Amino acid sequence: MDVIHTVKGLRERLSREPNNVFVPTMGNLHEGHLQLVENAKPRGACTVVSIFVNRMQFGPREDFDKYPRTLQQDCDKLAAIGCDLVFAPDEGEIYPEPQQYAVEPPEIQHILDGAVRPGHFRGVATVVLKLFNMVQPRAAIFGKKDYQQCIVLRNMVRQLALPIDIILADTVRASDGLALSSRNGYLTAAERAEAPALYQALSRAVAELKAGAKDFQRIELQQMAILAGRGWKPEYIAIRRAQDLGQPEAGDADLVVLGAARLGVTRLIDNIEWRLP
Ligand code: PAF
Repeated sequence: MDVIHTVKGLRERLSREPNNVFVPTMGNLHEGHLQLVENAKPRGACTVVSIFVNRMQFGPREDFDKYPRTLQQDCDKLAAIGCDLVFAPDEGEIYPEPQQYAVEPPEIQHILDGAVRPGHFRGVATVVLKLFNMVQPRAAIFGKKDYQQCIVLRNMVRQLALPIDIILADTVRASDGLALSSRNGYLTAAERAEAPALYQALSRAVAELKAGAKDFQRIELQQMAILAGRGWKPEYIAIRRAQDLGQPEAGDADLVVLGAARLGVTRLIDNIEWRLP
């Protein structure tokens, strides 16, 4: 497996690999990331993983500085599963000058996570477009745990006519239901034991939809109240149209129940897709 740190080196190496499949990450890789790589391997001749903690998508009071940087362990894990190439640039390589041009996603960037993290999806879309231009993949794979990010990036690729297939992979969960996330590492032992309660809240909301409940707002508020009662600070539980995260209207069958909540200092997000019969 090659580990490359410069755009020049990347372009030289990939000039021999037109059929590459790309998994962008911020590193600190867990089983969820490794599943994305496994998913990528049969889809192309070369599997490329980027590891870059992108300052532009973090707010000023967020965890950019403490976000775990574990490049050597990440490379060991990737080599063990047969990844072909790791692109691990430093900040100066991705942002050699102040980034004055940016991808400005539409209204979706201001709702849900975007309402709590202003500028986040602008930062994500901008770095992913830059990474796409550097790697020039035929396909790219993203995990559905970051559901809103998936929708923003899928729309960006469609609207900017990028010749890249976007593949969305299912969330990987621990045996107790907790969605795998690098931020789970911030949890204390007691918080880790409590953390599956977010998935349980989403599951109860889905169970209500299954049972035919139509009062979405009641379901959302009820599940937020349950989390708050257990000591969480819920930001939202939201039942939305899966395709664009708009408010569901009569006839919309493909839904997603999304949640974000803080447990201590750790912010967790999760979601479950549900198709109304
Ligand atoms: O999902 C992530 O890890 C990041 O948002 C991404 C897509 C690598 C962009 O920095």
